[in-house]
Amino acid sequence: MPNPSILILPGDGIGPEVMTEVRKIIGWFGEKRDISFDVSEDLVGGAAYDKHGVPLADETMAKAQEADAVLLGAVGGPKYDDLDFSVKPERGLLRLRKEMDLYSNLRPAQCFDALADFSSLKKDIVAGLDIMIVRELTSGVYFGEPRGIFEEGNERVGINTQRYTESEIERAARSAFELAMRRGKKVCSMEKANVMESGILWREVVTRVAADYPEVELSHMYADNGAMQLVRAPKQFDVILTDNLFGDILSDCAAMLTGSLGMLPSASLGAPMENGRPKALYEPVHGSAPDITGQGKANPIACVLSFAMALRYSFDLGAEADRLEAAVEKVLADGVRTADLLASEGVSPVSTSEMGDAIVAALNASL
Ligand code: IPM
Ligand code: MG
Repeated sequence: MPNPSILILPGDGIGPEVMTEVRKIIGWFGEKRDISFDVSEDLVGGAAYDKHGVPLADETMAKAQEADAVLLGAVGGPKYDDLDFSVKPERGLLRLRKEMDLYSNLRPAQCFDALADFSSLKKDIVAGLDIMIVRELTSGVYFGEPRGIFEEGNERVGINTQRYTESEIERAARSAFELAMRRGKKVCSMEKANVMESGILWREVVTRVAADYPEVELSHMYADNGAMQLVRAPKQFDVILTDNLFGDILSDCAAMLTGSLGMLPSASLGAPMENGRPKALYEPVHGSAPDITGQGKANPIACVLSFAMALRYSFDLGAEADRLEAAVEKVLADGVRTADLLASEGVSPVSTSEMGDAIVAALNASL
């Protein structure tokens, strides 16, 4: 059997820096655990635009479709702010999501004990937090038609369309219930059924799907209340299921509960391929962070934990994912900190690559 393949798309800003550390970890698994991958690398975002004039070349798109998993760093940066909308770096990422049909976006928000003090919320509200946001990723207002800026009388009108089919809602809901079965067996679905027809349909379909999962407790919440509850009492949640736009917003909010955006991984999953593995793209939730690019300050943990999610969800290596997550936890418990995690402490920060090395050392210690 050939090794499973991973396509690495480092992208822009701190993407390449954090990806270098992930490559160390991938190398470690090959060397010490005899778990090897065929790794190839390509361009996305501004980096692709600079070379090809588009944020994702067709050839790269084809490679992503073939790969067993795609690992992406980050896209975007001030250099590309003035580009035409159609070739902005973000379009590369959105094309990957849409054409790979990655409908289920898993965004865990977990508060590491060692970092509970970093949250902007009181420690007892976030300590031990472990929630999973399932964001529908291929439809809704991000992709709905009609869209555009049109002339209407003597002014222009900007239009985007929130659109969901029953099957789109159903498949996202199923992935949330499946996850809940392996976690706390609770799903809270968030929409705006009080003002949006798409929200009414969402609620109906989710309720229908829930009948197949009698062990899971389903609740519904308007998304605005959900945002409020996330900062008031986040530990009431287990799995949150929501649409593309609400999920974008609520996941940033949830991310901040944990203290640093530099810590959070994500997985975007689609239907199973011929080999049984889901189409999958893994990426840190943080962006390209142009303000710290090239200074060795970036925190590679979100990207490393994204690789852990790949081990778990693409390669059925849950125990190795646990090992990697435990290594990260150990490094944090030992007080190793990149600059983003230093708000209130008197220790000096380690660099991006020193953090990667510390994780490798913790992995060695795990053997
Ligand atoms: C995210 C980001 C993206 C989104 C951008 C970069 C297109 O904010 O993944 O949350 O809006 O989905
Ligand atoms: Mg976002």
